[in-house]
Amino acid sequence: MNYSVCLLAAGKGTRMKLPYNKVLHRLKKNKTVLDMSLSIFLRDSECKQVVLMYAKEDESYMIERYGKIHRVELHEGGMTRQESAGIGLHFVNQDYVMIHDAARPFVTKEQIDSLKVALETEDACLLMIPSVDTIKIVKDGYVETTPLRQHVYNAQTPQCFKTSLIKKCYEKSLLEGRQATDDAQLVEWYTDVPIKVVLGDLNNKKITLPQDIPA
Ligand code: CTP
Ligand code: MG
Repeated sequence: MNYSVCLLAAGKGTRMKLPYNKVLHRLKKNKTVLDMSLSIFLRDSECKQVVLMYAKEDESYMIERYGKIHRVELHEGGMTRQESAGIGLHFVNQDYVMIHDAARPFVTKEQIDSLKVALETEDACLLMIPSVDTIKIVKDGYVETTPLRQHVYNAQTPQCFKTSLIKKCYEKSLLEGRQATDDAQLVEWYTDVPIKVVLGDLNNKKITLPQDIPA
């Protein structure tokens, strides 16, 4: 299953409170968060293209570090994650695309392989984990309802789609000026296409807050 990845690194990482973009933070063996999330895809020969979205302020660093890597294309992102993904999708040249947060450096080859297997029969799938917490719907400071926990999952990335499908959904959201919180939500809004759940695991967390950086 050949595919492109749209790798989103164009944020600012404000909640991480570092003086630079969190995806450029060095984890183990001097590898940055972005180095790690990129290398998992570069090791996969079926990943034919990496559309790497960067923030304007990181431009020279990104070109210097990744500009000459075969399969990697650099593009400037937008103001929001959705905007960055929408821009990136214009450049995708494979029939299937995985949209991945560069801030999730711990995704595994096995998880990517499971997503590829799902894409053989599905047009949309994503990594999810069953919620370990009880989730409550709250309105104006008071609990409204509690969804059944076995129905509640946390969405992760990669989120994977037939490219033509997700491009159409992004175009519609742009026309309507509607902001989703992940990519799959756009498919839920604009199509009846089923979205297959592929089980991820807790290790594939998004580096968001200072305590998310492993000691
Ligand atoms: N992202 C992006 N373009 C944006 C905003 C976010 O490509 N305009 C990317 C981030 O680089 C990150 C992923 O989307 O890899 C998930 O977003 P998030 O964790 O919210 O990262 P930031 O927006 O950078 O962090 P914060 O919200 O704390 O500022
Ligand atoms: Mg953000």
